[in-house]
Amino acid sequence: MSEKITLVNGKLNVPNKVIIPFIEGDGIGKDITEPTQKIVDAAVEKSYGSKRKIDWYEVLAGEKSFKQNGEWLPQATLDAFSEYIVGIKGPLTTPIGGGIRSLNVALRQTLDLYVCLRPIRWFKGVPSPVRYPSRVDMHIFRENTEDIYAGIEFMTGTPEAEKFKQLMEENFGLEKVRFPDSTSIGIKPISKEGSERLVRAAMLYAIERKLPSVTLVHKGNIMKFTEGAFKNWGYELVENEFASQTFSWKQYEAIASEKGIDAAKEALKKAELEGKVIVKDVITDAFLQESLLHPFSYSVIATMNLNGDYISDQLAAMVGGIGISPGANINYNSGFAIFEATHGTAPNIAGTGKANPSSLILSAAMLLEYIGWKEAAEHIYDALEHTFTKRRVTSDLHALMEGATLLTTNEFANEVIRNIH
Ligand code: NAI
Repeated sequence: MSEKITLVNGKLNVPNKVIIPFIEGDGIGKDITEPTQKIVDAAVEKSYGSKRKIDWYEVLAGEKSFKQNGEWLPQATLDAFSEYIVGIKGPLTTPIGGGIRSLNVALRQTLDLYVCLRPIRWFKGVPSPVRYPSRVDMHIFRENTEDIYAGIEFMTGTPEAEKFKQLMEENFGLEKVRFPDSTSIGIKPISKEGSERLVRAAMLYAIERKLPSVTLVHKGNIMKFTEGAFKNWGYELVENEFASQTFSWKQYEAIASEKGIDAAKEALKKAELEGKVIVKDVITDAFLQESLLHPFSYSVIATMNLNGDYISDQLAAMVGGIGISPGANINYNSGFAIFEATHGTAPNIAGTGKANPSSLILSAAMLLEYIGWKEAAEHIYDALEHTFTKRRVTSDLHALMEGATLLTTNEFANEVIRNIH
């Protein structure tokens, strides 16, 4: 009989026959969800025979839910994700109309899923705009609960904006505001607690996977007490909690100023040879350039919400675009995790067989890794790569590949399953 995942002493306890809740999703969600589940089932069977199995449990959200019961995101769905701990979702339409929050944001906030994890890895055969895509292997840890996404914004001319203006005038002066009478205002909350838990998660991930570096990406030269503080809190956390496993840029600078640059270089080299995680920081605009020119210099990237948003799409484009890049929203303390396709509902191609299911397939592989079923995840990665190298692809990649064979969503999924077997 299938059972729930539970959390025992801070660790996931995963039964061999496990229930995983899923949201089918709107638009192409319907096209990509079932093929993804079939691929996962095939990979689990190939890896563990009849010993392990996923029992998929559908929960409602989005248009399908609204049509059935008048609710975009029923409480029962939120309850299911917290009861079963780990789940997966297709893309959801953002409902248009006053007072309705994005369903994705509501799910992230309710379960306090503070990490948005995006692995950026190239699969052989996939067209890429960078020269050495095989050297791209990055893992973005984007903070998911703070920053300007908190939604604290006041439109100029509203009583709220006026009140805020008055508050500023009385306490801080308005000299720095260029056009005070027509200014809208937004607030950017960045906390020590929020920054620390994000950087901690990135560090633990890098250490567990023996990855070479963690880079804090920030615009602290301009936003000193938000993004600059994120950087400082990050370095402090590393010093306090991970000193023996790391070598940080702060240490490099200290050695350089005390003993000279050669000694600092020597210390860095020694730390690399000892397998220590190198912790460094880069200003966001420089990072956007550097990650394109020298992607192999970056491994784990820890950053705040808005930077993370921009960075995720640029890095995804380097390895084939959002159609094939996976994602997860995770709270590493409670264990709650929702894996998801990173693209939207693509209403322009829904139901046509053109959707590329790879983003959801790879998100499902991440889910398997997260619950410790690594062999099944590896089967999926191998089979996908094999399918891409044979140039048997859906229409998005077909348009970019010479001599490729065009497959529908289902044909592509069947090809992946054949390659698993
Ligand atoms: P979108 O990602 O749905 O589409 C952008 C373009 O990429 C379209 O041309 C589409 O055909 C193409 N595309 C997307 N996924 C594809 C796939 N798997 N295979 C092949 N082509 C693919 O973004 P858009 O149009 O801005 O948003 C549509 C709806 O999706 C909106 O309601 C939006 O709010 C929602 N959305 C939901 C997300 C989520 O649930 N995580 C994320 C982004 C958007």
